[in-house]
Amino acid sequence: MLIKNISLLAGLNPGGLTRRRGSEMSELPSIAGAWLRIAPDGTVDSYGPMDSLPETSEAEETTDAAGGIVIPAFCDSHSHIVYAGSRHGEFVDKIHGLSYEQIAANGGGILNSADRLHETSEDDLFAQSLERAREVMMKGTACLEIKSGYGLTLPDELKMLRVIARIAQVLPLTVRATFLGAHAVGRAYAGRQGEYVSHIINDMLPAVAAEGLADFVDVFCDRGFFTTDETARIIEAAARYGIRPKIHANELDFSGGVQTGVRHGALSTDHLERIGDEEISLLAQSDTVATMLPGASFFLGMPYGPARRAIDAGATVALASDYNPGSSPSGDMRTVWALGCIKMKLTPEEALNAVTINGAAAMDLGASHGSIAAGRKANLIITRPMQALAQIPYQYTTPWISELIINGKRMMAVCPRAVDIAP
Ligand code: NIG
Ligand code: FE
Repeated sequence: MLIKNISLLAGLNPGGLTRRRGSEMSELPSIAGAWLRIAPDGTVDSYGPMDSLPETSEAEETTDAAGGIVIPAFCDSHSHIVYAGSRHGEFVDKIHGLSYEQIAANGGGILNSADRLHETSEDDLFAQSLERAREVMMKGTACLEIKSGYGLTLPDELKMLRVIARIAQVLPLTVRATFLGAHAVGRAYAGRQGEYVSHIINDMLPAVAAEGLADFVDVFCDRGFFTTDETARIIEAAARYGIRPKIHANELDFSGGVQTGVRHGALSTDHLERIGDEEISLLAQSDTVATMLPGASFFLGMPYGPARRAIDAGATVALASDYNPGSSPSGDMRTVWALGCIKMKLTPEEALNAVTINGAAAMDLGASHGSIAAGRKANLIITRPMQALAQIPYQYTTPWISELIINGKRMMAVCPRAVDIAP
């Protein structure tokens, strides 16, 4: 396939980077007025300026971008989209003033979702979750990490992970699965947190690894959830199966989660609403991606993670949706990009790198996903006609996606382009 009349082909990767760190995040190699050719295997073949537009044969499909911008599709490195039902009741509780932690202490929150999930069959859970995965795909996500963590028993955690595997089978999304048995203490272990951690290590992890159901392991290392010692025990156990950690850290407090994650070579530490200079400099000196979740800050009214300071210090910052029923019931990465600009004061280029190549890096996929270069996945978004990249996060509720290409295939024509309706 050949795409022509691209007003700006943005997110090129001539240097073959697998992440953009610190000041590199402000760079977004681009060509104004461009074409792009996709190889039959669904990777990018070549690209160039319109004055070098190649000849096409009859057999080659041509797409006219008609002045739209082309960017890499989103890489959402943190989601919990496999869940049952909805927690809109807690949404109303929050409006009436209850905090996220008060709701959890009253038996709501994660345990509420675990109860719903327990009552739901695998097929029904698959159907509900597939709907959400389709939704985020149509909003421009081509690569998605999905966590377990609403099972909290061995059978229910396996049920979630099998659903994640089924989503990966039926949708063209690239999916990465994360085992988050340590999301909360399962009800059967109430008051026996240490025994629950041992159950994760001795029973859950071996079963998950035996079925090859998890790429990564995660722990909710925070005040009222799991301690740094428990986190270290779990991630050391996972390492014996070659499963790398991604840690929920510092959402509710200065939890030590960043230090524990960095020390254990975590791919990412995520949330980071409450971090200071020590955590920022640790992240800047390590390969651990600093993943921040502005959708959760927006929805819960929490502080936003200090993405600006982390970039200025030299960290690799990713932004992800955290799509989940409690703290971020949205997987819209267009909004995440815009919140990165509006609330975290990243430039449009920095925030786009955070939701593409650095999101890919947080899933260990930076070599194949999240940027545009020959041989890399042709996962692309074509926008409606736009004057400049900044217009996209600026016009943050406009449905600006015109065409989504995943693995080199057109996924939709969401809205007609000017060229289609011109007289
Ligand atoms: O990333 N913080 C921990 N876990 C999720 C929320 C889970 C829930 O409330 O259901 C998060 O925000
Ligand atoms: Fe999360």
